[in-house]
Amino acid sequence: MTRSTDFSDPARRIIVALDVSGREELLQLIRTLRGTVGMFKVGKQLFTALGPEALALIKKEGGEVFLDLKFHDIPNTVAGAVRAACRHGVAMLTVHASGGRAMLEAAVQAAREMVSAPLVIGATVLTSLGAQDLELIGLAGPPEQAVLRLGGLAIEAGLDGLVASARELTALRAEFGKQPFLVTPGIRPKGAAAHDQQRVATPLKAVSDGADFLVIGRPITRADDPLAAVEAIVDELVEAE
Ligand code: C5P
Repeated sequence: MTRSTDFSDPARRIIVALDVSGREELLQLIRTLRGTVGMFKVGKQLFTALGPEALALIKKEGGEVFLDLKFHDIPNTVAGAVRAACRHGVAMLTVHASGGRAMLEAAVQAAREMVSAPLVIGATVLTSLGAQDLELIGLAGPPEQAVLRLGGLAIEAGLDGLVASARELTALRAEFGKQPFLVTPGIRPKGAAAHDQQRVATPLKAVSDGADFLVIGRPITRADDPLAAVEAIVDELVEAE
């Protein structure tokens, strides 16, 4: 997959995390933000609540879908899940890099067999896991080391990019160069509440350090005026250009 994504409009970098469960709330957010932001992220909360209807609604309303279900299973099952996601017309999806090389290759192959292949993005180490947590699940060593190792596995298997926290961006760009898409959550515009995120970065800092896409949820979805919140983020990004 070549890097054809057009970021001349910085708003296209924004992926809005739709962590909601209700159809009405979902529709309101899509209708407010479609045509402005790059994609809408459907994660386990929304997908478990509404199922593929959530994907159909976003597509019908003219939005692009990032299906963030972090597939992690045997290769045959993940390949089947990727094909099913492709049939829903998703633009991007996630798999867990720790699923191993055969699973990652099966995911990439399944996507590429489809008429319009989505970007396949690898999640490496969940940012909620610290060094002690990693040791308990048998991944001793600094989290950054595990991120680089799993990131390397994902890139070698042919994935299009990685999910990366802001603190890993510089190391990942140094290791893997410009090619892989880096998708970064934990973004907080200037002055926004951190909520439960521990290590946050501003949109500007994340893009300067190498992020392509910014995953932003509550600072947009819980704002009194979600469109104004997006516009403020874009102003922040444009200032730097
Ligand atoms: O509301 P907020 O901006 O914190 O939402 C961030 C989104 O990114 C959530 O959907 C969350 O599940 C996701 N995410 C994250 N950290 C990761 C991976 C995904 O916050 N490491």
